[in-house]
Amino acid sequence: MPVIQVEGRQAIEVEEGKKLVLALEDEGVDMLHRCGGNARCTTCAVEVLAGDAGEMGEAEAACREKKGIENPSTRLSCQVRVQGDMSIRLIKTIESTGLEPGPRPQE
Ligand code: FES
Repeated sequence: MPVIQVEGRQAIEVEEGKKLVLALEDEGVDMLHRCGGNARCTTCAVEVLAGDAGEMGEAEAACREKKGIENPSTRLSCQVRVQGDMSIRLIKTIESTGLEPGPRPQE
């Protein structure tokens, strides 16, 4: 199974094809997803430090453009399906923002 290394935290094993945001949440990682995984809020964004987060879909590309996200390493974890090992850095967390996560994204 692919392994995701979260900077400064634990490494987690993830079922291939699982949404990154759900993999992180299910392993107890403090993870925001305010819009419920619909590529609208960007609170689920992570920085991909190593590994391949896969092709970017239309919804993610449109949201990035609308929100002015230009860094190619910044990916919306609700739009990434894990295909292989990755190393990531969290950007916004529940703890750092004081925000509540939204509804659980669909599988
Ligand atoms: S963009 Fe809102 S949860 Fe991913």
